[in-house]
Parts: sequence; structure tokens; C-alpha cells
Amino acid sequence: MILRRAHVAAVFFLYLFASSHSLDFPKPKHKHKINGPIKTLVVLVMENRSFDHILGWLKRTRPEIDGLTGKESNRVNATDPDSPQIFVSDAAAFVDSDPGHSIQAIREQIFGSNDSFSDPPPMSGFVQQANNMEVEGMAKTVMSGFKPEVLPVYTELATEFTVFDRWFASVPASTQPNRFYIHSATSHGASSNVRKDLIHGFPQKTIFDSLDENDLTFGVYYQNIPATLFFKSLRKLKHITKFHDYKLKFKLHAKKGKLPNYVVVEQRYFDVELSPANDDHPSHDVALGQRFVKEVYETLRASPQWKEMALLITYDEHGGFYDHVPTPVSGVPNPDGIIGPDPFYFGFDRLGVRVPTILVSPWIDKGTVIHEPTGPTPDSHFEHSSIPATVKKLFNLKSNFLTKRDAWAGTFENYFHIRETPRDDCPEELPAVKISIRPRGPKEDLRLSEFQVELIQLASQLVGDCVLNTYPDIGKNMTVGEANRYAENAVERFLEAGRAALRAGANESAIVTMRPSLTTRTSGEEYGSYM
Ligand SMILES: *[C@@H]1O[C@H](CO)[C@@H](O)[C@H](O)[C@H]1NC(C)=O
Ligand SMILES: *[C@@H]1O[C@H](CO)[C@@H](O)[C@H](O)[C@H]1NC(C)=O
Ligand SMILES: *[C@@H]1O[C@H](CO)[C@@H](O)[C@H](O)[C@H]1NC(C)=O
Ligand SMILES: *[C@@H]1O[C@H](CO)[C@@H](O)[C@H](O)[C@H]1NC(C)=O
Ligand SMILES: *[C@@H]1O[C@H](CO)[C@@H](O)[C@H](O)[C@H]1NC(C)=O
Repeated sequence: MILRRAHVAAVFFLYLFASSHSLDFPKPKHKHKINGPIKTLVVLVMENRSFDHILGWLKRTRPEIDGLTGKESNRVNATDPDSPQIFVSDAAAFVDSDPGHSIQAIREQIFGSNDSFSDPPPMSGFVQQANNMEVEGMAKTVMSGFKPEVLPVYTELATEFTVFDRWFASVPASTQPNRFYIHSATSHGASSNVRKDLIHGFPQKTIFDSLDENDLTFGVYYQNIPATLFFKSLRKLKHITKFHDYKLKFKLHAKKGKLPNYVVVEQRYFDVELSPANDDHPSHDVALGQRFVKEVYETLRASPQWKEMALLITYDEHGGFYDHVPTPVSGVPNPDGIIGPDPFYFGFDRLGVRVPTILVSPWIDKGTVIHEPTGPTPDSHFEHSSIPATVKKLFNLKSNFLTKRDAWAGTFENYFHIRETPRDDCPEELPAVKISIRPRGPKEDLRLSEFQVELIQLASQLVGDCVLNTYPDIGKNMTVGEANRYAENAVERFLEAGRAALRAGANESAIVTMRPSLTTRTSGEEYGSYM
């Protein structure tokens, strides 16, 4: 214990150094004025599910939605028309292991083979790819969708508000690259979750920087660890105060009418007894994701800011689940000229699989379905870069688009200009989520998923443990319970050190660099020599 205390004290010995790459911009003299009715956009990104898996069966009662009819299928062997067919079902339930969603797996899912030439792609290889994983029942799992009554919160939101049925992931790859597009319209060349050179954070300009340049505000409400800290610019001292503990601050800020212009709500990514994960990622319980969305909605609905607000709920990527709408494979611009790494040299010139996206706002008519965008080019689509693109237009930002991709992506600000006044009949409460979809509680002793390992790499960067020789494998030997404690502790210390540096008058563009305090807790020994 004494040893630990000494370490905690030591980490407050920090180096400050100015960011090498200044994104500063002369501040406008007058407060920026937003012209449209929406002053706050709240963004919530869930994990790893396709449109058809989550919302496909809504088509039964809402035929205008491009969902499932029951006739969609994949063959066991995508190139053999005589091989058995597996049809879509409405039997989606708890999913324990993670279907494939690496760049190779997705190529096979959408093209049915390793050739990526068909346009449109046949979306025929989901079953074949699932069978290759050799997990019992995986093929049926990926072809399944939820009955609308199993997801009562989404069913109600889709009925009351707006569904996008042509919104795609930005990259046919995993979580992290897609999460980067949401706030920066590029992944800066990342096409997978595995990257050993994350230490300094991703350098690209983000929509947070654009908002800041225009004197508008943003806030990140996080639970275990904010994945937005993968962006280097968000680690600057001047942004430290924009990270808020969801449990302590989200309801409070909403109630006081103090939510900033751009709000990011992050989920709990670690599944532990006291606070199970609510990000919908397999094997986490989708019912908890439903309760979380309900809580976010009801909090916003009760806020004095409700009539100036919109909430966008989307999924980072399809998680290996089937979707019948062909993924756009042509006319998609590479955002910044960066090509992906060996061995695929991916050109970032085709989109990922369609994902569920719901837009909530009293400014849009009940039961709206948004299909294709009307521009800015004939090839434009809705994809994650539509978020920064819309923020720019919605808040009339003077900053340029971030990349070629958000300049191209469809935007939805025009939908807020159709009505003269906001609706006053929006439900105050959403249906209660009574059933649990998972037959068991969290398993704290499980090993980490790839994304969780990356979050631990991030945590270790924040507190300086990344100079230890266990980096980047620092999360590989942790259990979920250990990882959760490590991540929460790292974030707390990083933000606390930042606040201390601010009080001490440090340059606001500087980034706190901490010294290592411990190695992995599982190893049971500490590296005193680094103190
Ligand atoms: C803070 O750091 C930035 C970026 O390096 C530099 O341009 C600026 O002059 C510094 N400000 C002060 C007050 O030292
Ligand atoms: C799938 O079908 C093709 C064409 O009939 C055949 O060449 C191939 O060997 C089959 N693949 C498997 C794994 O059976
Ligand atoms: C696709 O390529 C991978 C190697 O990258 C190979 O393992 C797999 O069998 C190939 N799949 C098909 C359908 O040819
Ligand atoms: C979503 O998919 C990625 C990509 O394969 C996977 O590594 C990751 O673990 C998933 N997300 C989460 C939160 O686990
Ligand atoms: C994880 O544990 C294995 C076996 O106990 C060990 O060989 C390996 O070095 C450990 N890795 C890390 C990153 O601690």
C-alpha cells in the first residue's frame, strides 16, 4: 500500500510539452451565432450490429423501411448455387462470441469471395465467412435479426422519430477506424484495431477542433474510459475540462440546461458486476444497451434544452451480422490520400456495411424514414462522416471540411427546417425493458476483446505506462475486471493531473505526459526503476 502511494505521488511529477502540431486559429471576436433551430447535437455510438440485425424486421409494420422480408438468404458456399441456403430469421438472441469483422472477413461477407470487383457487391458471403470461424451455430446467428418487441426502446424511437435506412459504416473494417470517422472523417490510415504506434494519439484535425475554432462548445460524457482520447488534440490541457463523468454530470448538465453544442455520450466498454457493459457488443447484454438509450433519451427529453436539440444514435460497424443492402463500392473518395498498411493497402475508397441509425428531435415529423441523401454529389451517401459534415452545416462553422470524405458525405441539417415549430407530443418516457437478453451476468474473469485491449493501450498511454516494455501487450494478460479498474484509474489520474497543470498556469495547448506508475497488475511486481 505504501509502495502504491509513493507511485501515485510520483505520477504527479509531470512533464509538459507543447503540442508539436498546433491547430490553433484566431478566435472570433463575437460569439458565434447558430442560425438553425438545433443548438445541441448529441451523438451516441453503439457497437458492432448491422441494420438488418437490429431494425430489419420493423419492415413488417413499416413497409417503407428497407428491411427484411424473410426471403433474404446466403448460400453455405457463396460460389456454389447448389449449396444449401440459410435464410434470415427473427430469432436473434444473446450472442456470446464475436462474429468476424476484420477487413478480410468483411470482404468475404460482402463479395462472397476474396475478389472485390463486383459493383454492387452481392452481400452473399456472411454464412460462408461465419462457417469458417468454426463456432457452432454462428451461420444462423449472423443471419438473425431481433423481433421489434425484443428491442422496445428502438422500436418506439423508430416509430416516434426518424430512421435512416441508407447509413453505412465509413470503412469495411472494425471498431476503431469507424469511430475515428465519426469525429474526424478519416481514420488517418488505420484499417484495423491493432496499432502499436498509438502512443502520441491520432494527429488528424477533428470536429472538436472546428467547434473550438468557432467558439462553440463540446463535451464528452464517458463511463469507463473515453475512446475519444485516442485523438491527440483532445488530450490538450484546454480540453481536459470537457470530459465529464457520465454518472455524475450528464443528468445534472441536462437538467440545468448546460449541455454544450456537441455532446458525445460514451458507453461502458467493460462488463463488470457493479456496472455491466451497455455498448451492445457481443457478448454484452443488448437489454442493457436498450436501458442506456432509454436513460439518455429521457434525460434529454426532460431537459430545458429539448426543443433545441437532436440526438443521433448509430453503430460503429456491422459486427459481422448480415445486411441485404449492397455496400457502396464506387465513387467513395479517399479522405486524405493515406493508404492502409500491408498486406491490403486498403484505399479507403469503399464504405462498410449498413448500420442502424436513428435521429431523434422534436423538429422532425413523427415516423420519418430518410433514404438516400440528395447530394452534395450524385455518389454521396450517409455514412459516419455525415456527422462532422452536418455539424459544419448545422452550426454554420467557418472552418473547412475536415477531409475529402466529409465534404462528400450526405448531410441531414435540412430535415430540421421542414417544420415551423417543434413537436410537443414527443413521449416523455420510453417503454421499460423488462427482459434480459443474456442468460447470465458479467464474467469479470474473461480475457479482453481486441477493442478492450486497445482501450487498455490508450489508458497506459495516458498515464505513461506505455514506456514500459510490456506495451503494447499490457492488456493481454488482464481480465475484464482488472482492465476496468486499470482504465478507470488511468483516466482519473490523467484528468486530475491535467487540472493540476491548468491551475499551475501551464500552456493550454500543452499535453500532460505522465511517468509510469505500474506494470500490469496481473504480474504482481512493479517497475520501481522508472520512478
Ligand atoms: C502555447 O503553445 C503554443 C503551441 O506551441 C504556442 O504557439 C503559444 O505561443 C504558447 N503560448 C504561450 C502563452 O506560451
Ligand atoms: C465452393 O464452390 C465452388 C464452385 O462450385 C468450388 O470450386 C469450391 O471448392 C467450393 N468451396 C468449398 C469450400 O467447398
Ligand atoms: C481468402 O483469402 C484467405 C487468405 O487471405 C484464405 O484463407 C481464404 O480461404 C480465401 N477465401 C476464399 C473464399 O477464397
Ligand atoms: C467490435 O469489433 C471489433 C473489431 O473486430 C472488435 O475487436 C471489438 O472487440 C468490438 N468492439 C468491442 C467494444 O469489443
Ligand atoms: C502474459 O503471461 C504469459 C504467461 O504467463 C507470459 O509469458 C507473458 O510474458 C505475459 N505477457 C505480458 C504482456 O505480461
